[in-house]
Amino acid sequence: MAKIRELSQILTNQIAAGEVIERPASVVKELVENAIDANSTQIDVFIEEAGLKKVQVTDNGDGIAADEVKLAFTRHATSKIYTQEDLFRIHSLGFRGEALPSIASVAKVSIETAVADQSGTYLSIKGGVSGEERPNKSRKGTTIIVEDLFYNTPARLKYIRSLQAELSNITDIMNRIALSHPEIAFRLHHEGNQLLHTAGNGDLRQTIAGVYGTMTAKKMKLIEGENLDFKVKGYISLPDTTRASRNYITLILNGRFIKNYALNKAIIDGYGSKLMVGRYPLAVIVMDADSLLLDVNVHPSKKKSGSAKKKSSGN
Ligand SMILES: Nc1ncnc2c1ncn2[C@@H]1O[C@H](COP(=O)(O)OP(=O)(O)O)[C@@H](O)[C@H]1O
Ligand SMILES: [Mg+2]
Repeated sequence: MAKIRELSQILTNQIAAGEVIERPASVVKELVENAIDANSTQIDVFIEEAGLKKVQVTDNGDGIAADEVKLAFTRHATSKIYTQEDLFRIHSLGFRGEALPSIASVAKVSIETAVADQSGTYLSIKGGVSGEERPNKSRKGTTIIVEDLFYNTPARLKYIRSLQAELSNITDIMNRIALSHPEIAFRLHHEGNQLLHTAGNGDLRQTIAGVYGTMTAKKMKLIEGENLDFKVKGYISLPDTTRASRNYITLILNGRFIKNYALNKAIIDGYGSKLMVGRYPLAVIVMDADSLLLDVNVHPSKKKSGSAKKKSSGN
């Protein structure tokens, strides 16, 4: 047997990247979720070549203080949880401190960030190795640019499907994130074309209009209900407005979009025989529950975030 040795930081980050950063859409999701966690009200995403050449996310959020920028790119460094108790009451989208170091280990990354009333910082990192760091005049907020994704992991590049498929993955994720956050204005641009634009005025129907078009949004029906554990609100289409896939059903639990087969089925079943074969409704269902009832600590690669936990007795 060869000698046992501890892996280098770059290697552990690349291994983590293998799980968290599967494709360009994962980069978009992680960066946009960070921008949301930073209390941004405007988030702009610019991509080139379906994100493989470039993903840029610009936000107007809290920014990162000059002495913490490098730390943000260190594995397991996070500002979102500090204690074990926090882990069971997570209110942010992220908390593992894995995304930035993972992304930076498989791409060329630069960041410009500033907190209010302080001069900002510029830092570049290539393949996990920090390059230039300098003070940088910038307004409050953060811009992260990720270029040449997977340039140093050719095996991963091979798994990338067509640019069209990767782009539709990105649009799908952006649409769902935008629907989960009507209070934030989102824009998505691909090589000069605007693919998404939401108003960010807090109105869910107007957000749906930004995603699926005004006509569709106008025709959707408001639903509302609650019991002791859950509050549910949302918009669903009538049987005359359908799509050829289930993809237009979005479930949002405590601010994060989730996938849940049983809920999807329940929504579709609710239409009874009113749907034609192979047609599916549009729906945006917003559910809220006490965060103690949710276990968000399921690894992203397991694709089960937000699974409901059984309530323990006497609770
Ligand atoms: N857009 C951003 N605005 C402000 N802070 C950010 C932004 N992106 C990342 N950060 C900071 O960097 C830290 C590390 O980010 P990340 O690696 O995604 O881990 P996590 O989101 O799990 O904490 C975050 O906890 C946050 O403090
Ligand atoms: Mg994060």
